[in-house]
Parts: sequence; C-alpha cells; structure tokens
Amino acid sequence: MTTRPLKIVPMPAALGAEVLCDDVRLASDAVIAQIRQASLDHLVLLLRDQTLSDGELRALGARFGELQLSNPLPSPLANEGKAVQGGGDAAIPEVTVVSNIVDNGVALGGLGDGELVWHTDMSSFAVPPKQTFLHALEVPERGGRTGFLNMYAAYEALPPALKAQVRGLNLKHDATIDAAGYVRKQFARDADLDLRAGPGSVHPLVRTHPDTGRACLYLGRRARAYIVGMDAAESDAVLDALWAHATQAEFSWRHQWRAGDLLIWDNRCTMHHREPFDPSARRYLHRVVVKGAAPSRSA
Ligand code: OGA
Ligand code: MN
Repeated sequence: MTTRPLKIVPMPAALGAEVLCDDVRLASDAVIAQIRQASLDHLVLLLRDQTLSDGELRALGARFGELQLSNPLPSPLANEGKAVQGGGDAAIPEVTVVSNIVDNGVALGGLGDGELVWHTDMSSFAVPPKQTFLHALEVPERGGRTGFLNMYAAYEALPPALKAQVRGLNLKHDATIDAAGYVRKQFARDADLDLRAGPGSVHPLVRTHPDTGRACLYLGRRARAYIVGMDAAESDAVLDALWAHATQAEFSWRHQWRAGDLLIWDNRCTMHHREPFDPSARRYLHRVVVKGAAPSRSA
C-alpha cells in the first residue's frame, strides 16, 4: 500500500494541480482521502505515468463514489455512416472510450478529432456526475489539449450588476447536442423542437458546491441553453455576457497530454474544452464518471 504523503504542486494558473504520487492503484485509503481533498482545493488534478486497465480505472473511480453510466460517446465517422461504432469492453460498461481511431472500419471510441466546445459533463441529466476521470493511453505530440475553467473564480469576478441579476435564475441544459456538435441519435427527432420543449434538465445558474459550500456558475454548454422565464433575446444576451466573461484566459488552465496521464476533474465547478488535433494522429483515452447529487441553489 502507498501511504507516503502526497506532494501537491499547484499549476501556475487559476486551477489545476499535479499530484506527485506512486502507482495510484496501490493507494491507501489515507492517500485517496488526500486526493479527494486536493480535488476540492484545485478542481483539476493531474497524475502522471499511471498504468490502469479498464477494470483498474473502474476500481479507482469507485473509491471516490458510485460510478454512473455515461451518455454514449459516438464517433462522428460512425454518425456519418463511414465507420461502425465500436469501443469499450461490454463487460465494463462504466468505462467509455474517447478516441478518433478507426481500426478496420470500426471506430474505437467517440468524440472524433475536432474541437469539443466548452462544457461540463452530462449537465443535461437531472443528477449530473460530480467527477470525471480521463486516462490517456495514446495521445498526439501536439494538439488535442484539454482546457479547464474555474467557475468559482468566474462567478466571484462577475461585474456586480450581472452577479446580482443571475443569482436565483434557472438554466435549461439541453440534451440534444453533444460536445462535438452532433445531434445525439436518441434525440434526433427533438433537434427541431422549440428550445423549451426539448429534452434536458433545469438547474440553478448559480449553484452551491455541496462539499466546499462555495458558489459557482453552472453553465453546462452554450448550444440551445436558455434562462427559464426570459424571452429568447433577453436570455441570449445574458448568456452571451456570462460566457464571454467565464471563458477568459484568467480563469483557465490547459493541459498538453502525455500517455499515462490521468486527469480528475470536478464537473460541478469547472468547464472543459478540447482543441482539435491532426486527424491522422492517434488519440485514445478511457473515462469513468462518478455520480453526483442534484445541483442546489446558492442563497
Ligand atoms: C470528455 C471530454 C475531452 C478530451 O471525455 O468528457 O470532454 O480532451 N474529453 O478528450
Ligand atoms: Mn467532457
């Protein structure tokens, strides 16, 4: 068992820290408790040089809470009928594969090679996940960086008038479109519906993090979002102002992946984004998500 105290090295940025540790598969309960606290303090954690099979990734995630099954992560090529959707081990359904690789006509995972717009995972669920674990097995040398935003800091730095305006509002998080910009197959018939009638969930725009007690903006994703009770133009104006503010570089940190990297992020108080990368490069990551609780409103 690894009981050596961890070293936590904050990134020179608004969020993120590297956790210097041995093989995380051997972590003692005390080490896991330290990682849990570091996740609350730094929002995104990087653990380098980790070896994890699917079963080991599932077992590690489960030490942080019950795991949740992901939305399917489709390959854009499978969406376009140019590949057969594969990926993942049916015996371990909690693990989903993020990859652009197509092997003999079979897409090994989802989300392709393009940009993934700013989002937080599965916020269209009534009970969205609290954490995502993403482990890199193969990554390109450059491109495909994943960026993160600190949504506590974004909330705290809002201009006072906007801050007062958004407290108490509710946001509809739409379920029809994934972060790669594709209409999810199961919602194909909903994409033409009026925003108000589409599938998704309503959450407080400013939520209180259940473990830290701190308030943060909870924006989900921009496409088809609207503020409940406002007309479309008013809602768009407020959301555009919030998004322009929250996506500023001063609230962000970007990670260039190496094989063996494990990132652990808190979906409640961060958003993330992926840069596109060379389609001929191979990128292959495995992911699990940990269940959360329904978002609660800030006082
Ligand atoms: C995800 C995701 C980003 C990436 O798996 O939820 O957004 O860098 N991935 O692949
Ligand atoms: Mn994501």
